[in-house]
Amino acid sequence: MKIGEAIVQRRSVRKYKAEPLSRELIGQALEAATQAPSGKNAQPWEFIVLEGEDKAKIAEMMVSGAEQLEAMGNKSGSAKRSAGIIQEAPAVIMVYNPRQNKADKANPVQEVMWSVDTQSVGAAIQNLLLKAVELGLGSLWICDIFVAEEQISAWLGREGGLMAAVALGWPAEEPIPRPRKSWQEVTHWGRGH
Ligand SMILES: Cc1cc2nc3c(=O)[nH]c(=O)nc-3n(C[C@H](O)[C@H](O)[C@H](O)COP(=O)(O)O)c2cc1C
Repeated sequence: MKIGEAIVQRRSVRKYKAEPLSRELIGQALEAATQAPSGKNAQPWEFIVLEGEDKAKIAEMMVSGAEQLEAMGNKSGSAKRSAGIIQEAPAVIMVYNPRQNKADKANPVQEVMWSVDTQSVGAAIQNLLLKAVELGLGSLWICDIFVAEEQISAWLGREGGLMAAVALGWPAEEPIPRPRKSWQEVTHWGRGH
């Protein structure tokens, strides 16, 4: 598959078949992730692959995080739905930045590093998603995990920064492409527009 095909074919998949995913396939997707560029080649990523009961625990923490937000009068958005997807997908990859956590952002020097690292992690996740397309897998990039950020990190025993989760599995839906702004709309040639 050509990279351009993977770019246009990729969709956020929110329904997965109950079939398990081999570690070999997950490994191939992660191998692609680790080929991403990163600021100063720091490779500020670590992946924790969760299956079965571990996923259920993450989903449970997200639902209770969402309910706490609601109890305080806030909206919890798509957090409960994303929790259901995490439960259903055969594998979920938790993505961490082992060098930093969010608290480091308060320090101006660390803040730059946080920004650079965050871009690097984003590149790794996108590589993973595109490799998943090539492998015939569906994926979903999930940031709704932040409703239970502290609980998840404490439960996983991680001190680094939780960046995202990625659900992975055999797709059980073919989502309609979501609209995009055209590149012309978001591009300016030079200073005038
Ligand atoms: C940083 C990031 C976080 C996202 N978090 C979630 C999420 O928590 N739950 C969810 O259902 N989708 C999530 N998405 C998926 C987006 O909703 C989706 O990419 C967007 O609507 C475009 O659809 P497409 O991926 O099918 O092209 C996230 C995507 C990105 C890039």
